[in-house]
Amino acid sequence: MLSIKPLAGALGAQIHGLDLQKDLNENDIAQLRELLNQYEVIFFRDQDITGKRQRDLARAFGPLQTHPAYKTVEGIPELTILESTPDNPTKIEAWHSDMTFREHPPMGTVLKSVVVPPKGGDTMWSSMTAAYDGLSSAMQSFLGGLTAVHDFSWGFRESIAEPGGRERLSGAIEANPPVRHPVIRVHPETNRKVIFVNSLFTTHIEGLVPAESQAILNFLFTHVARVEFTVRFHWEPHSIAIWDNRSTQHKPVNDYFPAYRRMERITIDGDRPY
Ligand code: SIN
Repeated sequence: MLSIKPLAGALGAQIHGLDLQKDLNENDIAQLRELLNQYEVIFFRDQDITGKRQRDLARAFGPLQTHPAYKTVEGIPELTILESTPDNPTKIEAWHSDMTFREHPPMGTVLKSVVVPPKGGDTMWSSMTAAYDGLSSAMQSFLGGLTAVHDFSWGFRESIAEPGGRERLSGAIEANPPVRHPVIRVHPETNRKVIFVNSLFTTHIEGLVPAESQAILNFLFTHVARVEFTVRFHWEPHSIAIWDNRSTQHKPVNDYFPAYRRMERITIDGDRPY
């Protein structure tokens, strides 16, 4: 029997009563999907699962993706390592949905904490359904007809600019040319509309002059981060977050330097946004 504790007004719930060490049956997965549709991001504590178990858990939702730029756990190419060290602090700073530079961005992500800093290092999520609902109907209909461009090279520009970065990432750059997605997409399971531009990967809105595009994007990037749309999660060792990458954005809080932090992440394949 699951017990569900909502954590904020717009999204996020902590789930108790499910042991992720065990094989989940169809009923468990259906329940988790429903919870994701309802809460958009769900959290679990004290789930000391292996990388393979995390992969099995993610695979129960659909086929998995690999990331073109991040290091992966040996033997599990779908499991990316997100770490921050004193010599190489994390560059993930901006609000984003994962990998919107793909034609088919992930439908969801499973993130596990491996090493948490002694203080700080939380992650925040924001509900893109609540953010859409928070727009005026005039703004909703203006945005509804627009398409935006998302670009891997823009999101990874800092890494590309590092010495040797362009050479190291050249395969990833070539394999991921800019893609177009609707500014407002429809969630394929809930049929709700969500804002689908993010400050990490979205470069511009098509059909607007650059100043207009930048002004609208700046407005949206500020709007999606309004605190009433967000939930903040404090990691402990062996915590797990599963989020719907179609209806949320997230951002780590980088307030723990120079402490070490290591997370392991898997993304689940999604459909082409419409
Ligand atoms: C991510 O951006 O996918 C990772 C978030 C985090 O490390 O807290």
